[in-house]
Amino acid sequence: MNVLLAEVAQAAQRLADAGVPSPRFDAEELAAYVHGVKRGELHSVADSEFDARYWEAVARREAREPLQHITGRAFFRYLELQVGPGVFVPRPETESVVGWAIDAVRAMDVAEPLIVDLCTGSGAIALALAQEVPRSRVHAVELSEKALEWARKNIEGSKVQLEHGDALAAFPELNGQVDLVISNPPYIPLTEWEYVQPEARDHDPELALFSGEDGLDTIRGIERTAHRAAAAGRRRRDRARGLAGGPGSVDLQGGRRLGRRRRPPRPEQPAPLHDCPQGDAMMSVAGAGPGVRGSSPGRRQHDCPQGDAMMARVNCTHGAAAAHSLEVS
Ligand SMILES: C[S@@+](CC[C@H](N)C(=O)[O-])C[C@H]1O[C@@H](n2cnc3c(N)ncnc32)[C@H](O)[C@@H]1O
Repeated sequence: MNVLLAEVAQAAQRLADAGVPSPRFDAEELAAYVHGVKRGELHSVADSEFDARYWEAVARREAREPLQHITGRAFFRYLELQVGPGVFVPRPETESVVGWAIDAVRAMDVAEPLIVDLCTGSGAIALALAQEVPRSRVHAVELSEKALEWARKNIEGSKVQLEHGDALAAFPELNGQVDLVISNPPYIPLTEWEYVQPEARDHDPELALFSGEDGLDTIRGIERTAHRAAAAGRRRRDRARGLAGGPGSVDLQGGRRLGRRRRPPRPEQPAPLHDCPQGDAMMSVAGAGPGVRGSSPGRRQHDCPQGDAMMARVNCTHGAAAAHSLEVS
């Protein structure tokens, strides 16, 4: 074993003792970052090249500073994002939300889908959708000026249109035109503060985490934004006026929808979406957990027993949807 791998093993033990949830991974990631190699190349670092700054990085992680703040980068789907103090570190759980959103947009079969990311933070969701949904037009909004600075860095050179502002009042010019609204907003009840993991509580911005007594303040507002932005509302009005698309043209819930179809209609498929039988705040946990999952008895947030895609509904009973499909019927 070379020196670096031996140090990594020791560091992993120290991180485990400090309660870091993924000690081995973090120890390796820090070693790779300090030595400028990929994790899979750690064995190739010569003993003479061992860099003692590794132990400084390990000490910071031991003090529960987020790994991504130490390395300055976060990986999200196919992206490498710049992150640091002042911006929420994108979570792996949110990658699934983006996956569901991509499926929802594909099912809509719209030529140039118009997508809005509310509360964009580092820009992770907006950028991933811009990258992975061909011909999409993606708009993003963020309230925090500090977070916006990070988003600007990440979004530079992409096709995402970034705005500074309140998601609750955002994009009036897009009313009735948006095919998909997606959001990973703040959603932790203020009363849950003590249960949040130190990486999130002490390093993610408060505005990114907490949202009123029950955690749902921002979500309630976002739902209103989603309803006014939704193209489905326009389509419904057009249907009422007899302007709807041709036969066989259906939305996610089986309602008829307007044109912009590129491929021949497919047979209607049952939507993989469902209302959550357990009530409120499903998405708060499923969307992107900043470390509160299952941490507090009696909390209203929960994992949905029916699995995925819960959140892709505007008309869910709890008004909490991280990836609202706006094909409402
Ligand atoms: C949980 S973070 C998620 C960031 C990013 N969407 C992600 O998934 O990585 C929530 C973000 O919402 C922003 N935010 C909170 N309230 C907002 C509002 N009313 N309008 C716009 N952004 C808001 C916060 O500053 C923070 O960046």
